Amino acid sequence: MAQFRLPKNSRIGKGKHFPAPDGATNVRTFKIYRWDPDAGETPRMDTYDLDLDDCGPMVLDALIKIKNEVDPTLTFRRSCREGICGSCAFNIDGTNTLACIKGIDEVKGAVKIYPLPHMPVVKDLVPDLTHFYAQYASIEPWIKTDTPAPTRERLQTPEDRKELDGLYECILCACCSTSCPSYWWNPDRYLGPAVLLQAYRWLADSRDEGMGERLDQLEDPFKLYRCHTIMNCTNTCPKGLNPAKAIAETKKLLLERQG
Ligand code: SF4
Ligand code: SF4
Ligand code: FES
Repeated sequence: MAQFRLPKNSRIGKGKHFPAPDGATNVRTFKIYRWDPDAGETPRMDTYDLDLDDCGPMVLDALIKIKNEVDPTLTFRRSCREGICGSCAFNIDGTNTLACIKGIDEVKGAVKIYPLPHMPVVKDLVPDLTHFYAQYASIEPWIKTDTPAPTRERLQTPEDRKELDGLYECILCACCSTSCPSYWWNPDRYLGPAVLLQAYRWLADSRDEGMGERLDQLEDPFKLYRCHTIMNCTNTCPKGLNPAKAIAETKKLLLERQG
């Protein structure tokens, strides 16, 4: 698995240590990034020793146990607990992934958990995704049509439907974009792999009639062409998707258009 560079934003201060309960025999250490920018604190790594005999198997189970039973001040996002909502994306053991589908036993030694790299931090493990979502909105992620609406629905052949496999499954967790060096250095102008995969999802949809307009929007030295095929995005996607391929397909469509 690819390992990613974490934010250099900060000196790390001395953290707190929460020992395991008396009598625990199956102890595992979790080191978790803590920072409340509004409180003017220095970021720190807190250490929590948990008894794994009394904890679920996933990294998210450990976070929930810490929050509920050890330290209610720990802040993180989660919702579905089954890899569908995309909200529990963190950097775990050096890799961006979803805590709810990452087994504790997949990590050797202490489990280190940071927020997604190179994003502003709201608090602890919660990144500010405002810009990421604005970029998603900018690709106009909805069907565009000129032809009159049919009486029932816009049909698609099974073959055309297959073109959306590997695209529609994206849960916008941002693991890929926050692993991409090009996105780290140009987050304002480069759309990043997640949003570009979503943009291609609409280019690939046989029912969409907005291809020309969509390609016009993407034909920009920064929005699309900052991808240098480093492949971190594809290596890290917890859903097994291939944003680098979607970006390459988009570039191909632009080339074909130029004739
Ligand atoms: S492509 Fe994968 S890593 Fe990127 S946002 Fe979608 S699901 Fe997450
Ligand atoms: S392939 Fe492109 S989008 Fe993916 S990590 Fe590399 S530069 Fe970023
Ligand atoms: S909690 Fe929804 S993806 Fe992990």
